[in-house]
Amino acid sequence: MTDSVVMTPINYSADRPKAANPVKIQDLSLRDGHQSLFATRGRTEDMIPVAEMMDEIGFWAVETWGGATFDTMHRFLNEDPWERLRTLKRYFKKTPFSMLLRAQNLVGYRNYADDVARAFVDRTVANGMDIFRTFDALNDYRNFETVVDQIKKNGKHFQGCMCYSMTEPRMGGEVYNLEYYVGKARELEAMGADSICVKDMAGLIAPYDAYNLVKALKAAVKVPIHLHSHFTSGMAQMSQIKAIEAGVDILDTCMTPYAFRTSHPAIEPLVMTLLGTNRDTGFDIRKLAAINEVLEKQVLPKYKHLLDDSKLSVIDINVLLHQTPGGMLSNLVNQLRDMDALDRIDEVYKQLPRVRKELGQVPLVTPTSQIVGVQTVNNVLYDTPEERYKMITAQVKDLCYGLYGKTAVPIDPDVQKKALKGYPRGEQPITCRPAEVLAPELEKAGKDIGDLAADTDDLLTYALFPVTGKKFLEWKYGRAEVPASVKPITLEQVRKTDALVKKAKAGELVEKKADAPAKSERLRTFNVFVDDEYFTVEVDPTGDAPLVVAAPRVAAAPASVPVSAPAPAPAAPKAAPAAAPAAAPAADVAGAKLAAPMPGLVIRYLKNVGDKVAKGEAVVVLEAMKMENALVAPCDGEIKAIGFKSGDTVAKGATLCVIG
Ligand code: CO
Repeated sequence: MTDSVVMTPINYSADRPKAANPVKIQDLSLRDGHQSLFATRGRTEDMIPVAEMMDEIGFWAVETWGGATFDTMHRFLNEDPWERLRTLKRYFKKTPFSMLLRAQNLVGYRNYADDVARAFVDRTVANGMDIFRTFDALNDYRNFETVVDQIKKNGKHFQGCMCYSMTEPRMGGEVYNLEYYVGKARELEAMGADSICVKDMAGLIAPYDAYNLVKALKAAVKVPIHLHSHFTSGMAQMSQIKAIEAGVDILDTCMTPYAFRTSHPAIEPLVMTLLGTNRDTGFDIRKLAAINEVLEKQVLPKYKHLLDDSKLSVIDINVLLHQTPGGMLSNLVNQLRDMDALDRIDEVYKQLPRVRKELGQVPLVTPTSQIVGVQTVNNVLYDTPEERYKMITAQVKDLCYGLYGKTAVPIDPDVQKKALKGYPRGEQPITCRPAEVLAPELEKAGKDIGDLAADTDDLLTYALFPVTGKKFLEWKYGRAEVPASVKPITLEQVRKTDALVKKAKAGELVEKKADAPAKSERLRTFNVFVDDEYFTVEVDPTGDAPLVVAAPRVAAAPASVPVSAPAPAPAAPKAAPAAAPAAAPAADVAGAKLAAPMPGLVIRYLKNVGDKVAKGEAVVVLEAMKMENALVAPCDGEIKAIGFKSGDTVAKGATLCVIG
């Protein structure tokens, strides 16, 4: 035991004397916990049963909002995000609330204009928020300026984050070394941070690095130091202990049912570990156990179907091998699988550090992890020996322009020049605070949404998420029917399903199965998508003629479909529930075909039938893995036919247009 943690003989009862310097604990179960394990699908009705019990524990704060919750609630749960804040506040009477704020990105995926940012912070405070944990994917604190000013004006707690990133197997190297983080901490303190958080979103921080880092930060700044580390790689509990020995002030944990895997260490083992020391949390472990009981029996059964049980291991050692977030790696695998190119995963792993370096050695956190990952896959699949960066996503162009902020090291000048060729905002990158080039957005949003927004909260929901936010407001005010897919499931439904599964396992459903015919050679497997969940269904045609055939090419259908006017990209739309259309009529028109190089969503056509195009000119924007790709004409000519329209889902190889 080191000098900083001292064991004193005391009694271990719940009313034991307070430790000299208790480690403060923030509970993340109600935000990062279910975001990490259950795709952020936690419902307010499942938080209420434990809210008053959690309020009695003595947490420094409970994280209840922000991150992906705002998006998921209105999009998939038919819940008003603002209402959750007000509801939970009625149950938590003592414990402060904290939220994860993506700086100028707020709770979305792009930089919003300053007027939206200020209104958002004001309304968040008005609805009950106390602590604003603020981060920027590039650690560019100019993106903090507007929100921090507004947090301070409201007299609330500004917690400044540094995203923990690495380029080497351990902390150090040219960019993300001790000096870098100490410098960031000093910047945050100068901005008025009330506390500083080391945000280790991928579980990369190793125990001895955590020790050295916390020691250095404690020596450099006066404000409390908070460690946020995911369990993903298996190191987080060890890192917490070393951080405590180095004098960390606050740690993040989850209640056991929401802990481990890609989530966080659990609170209960930590309470026991520190019991009787000068850093004793002071928590009553029996009260924690009572909360676990409720979560385990009444809540978790409703979510277990969302748990990724494809692997038995609770630790992802790929994170240790590649120093990249586990979520990012699984995205890469999915993307390659979609393109029938899973065999090229090793090339992707190999190119990833190079692409990341060329794009400014950015930290890998949403959205930069996705930007770097998708571009790497594009490079591996489409580059030729003569030409690299053949297909550059719109988001990489924005990054090169400076729209996300300043990168850790300068972007490779050749890559930057290529990315910005013909970029609509200009070919010269900006160096100012990104939001300075963004025009105010609220007034226009108000005009667009009209009386569907009853108050500022509604207006902000729409301003942040124009497509799904509007849909939600239509549900909220009874102007559209609420689909069954966003309704909650009950414990009763879960019990029925479980009983059926139990019967099946016990062989009691075998009678029905006895009649089932053998699967024939014609058996076909379909993936059925419902929002972002999918089921695999096997269809075996009976009789002589196959039951399921490719959709016929209807001769009567027009060779081209009307093209909607270029519209702003919808906010990360999900694949339409309908299956991708089969061969489009355009496929029958003679001429050079522009085929979809990957499955995706047609955002918009930049050309109409009859337009002249030059080889290399952008014709259509296709979204894949939330990144936009401008696809270019393979030759000079005239657009003879267009195969799809904005919003259509296309399969790999689908004919997007024909040039003759
Ligand atoms: Co986190």
